[in-house]
Amino acid sequence: MSSLKWLVGGLCVALCVIVGWGTGFAGKESSGSVPLETVVDYIHSVLEADRTFYTVHVVERMQRRGVIESSEQWRSANALPLPAQFFQESSSLAALTGAQVQYRLISLNPINKQSGPRTDFERKALEAVTAHPEQPYKGQVREGGTRYFQAVYADLAVSPVCVSCHNADPRSSKRDYKLHDVLGAVLISIPAPE
Ligand code: HEC
Repeated sequence: MSSLKWLVGGLCVALCVIVGWGTGFAGKESSGSVPLETVVDYIHSVLEADRTFYTVHVVERMQRRGVIESSEQWRSANALPLPAQFFQESSSLAALTGAQVQYRLISLNPINKQSGPRTDFERKALEAVTAHPEQPYKGQVREGGTRYFQAVYADLAVSPVCVSCHNADPRSSKRDYKLHDVLGAVLISIPAPE
């Protein structure tokens, strides 16, 4: 019983901290507003953390132990979704929330031809982050009459499975990747005020 009290007490404290923090944040936003460059950095850090965790602690761990493989046919086969599919599926779910945050993986040497650069901005961004992976490429673009703020972050081969899988895929135009190489990039797009 006393452990239940501790739990309830702990939850109340956590809630107060989150609400307090949220109110402080909203207050700051109304006085100065968070720059779009910073907003996309926040989104990116959460996306990367989730995907790296999934790749290293789910896909790689399960494959290494021989429990289950990952496969593009994960819906029909007894397999885990590929990390790129995990990313793509979560992006589709995010679109359903109406928040207008879009993200996808792109590359100059894609396995999936649909993931090549679609615009000048994307091509320049991919070239820039391949040369300087530590520096994201950011800017405003106009698509279909709407202005967007876009940011492109280098996507690195953080785990040996990224390398082995990309080098092994017959559709990949580059087959000599090494650990920590740039495999492509994460493109994040949010609406920008006119
Ligand atoms: C089990 C195989 C596998 C693993 C592991 C894997 N990928 Fe992929 N990756 C793929 C396949 C297949 C695609 C194409 C998926 C599609 O869009 O149909 C892809 C797509 C991508 C793309 C989009 C461009 C392209 O090549 O089509 C990027 C960028 C990418 N992966 C990076 C990574 C990174 C970084 C890791 C490790 C964190 C990783 N991948 C792990 C197989 C893999």
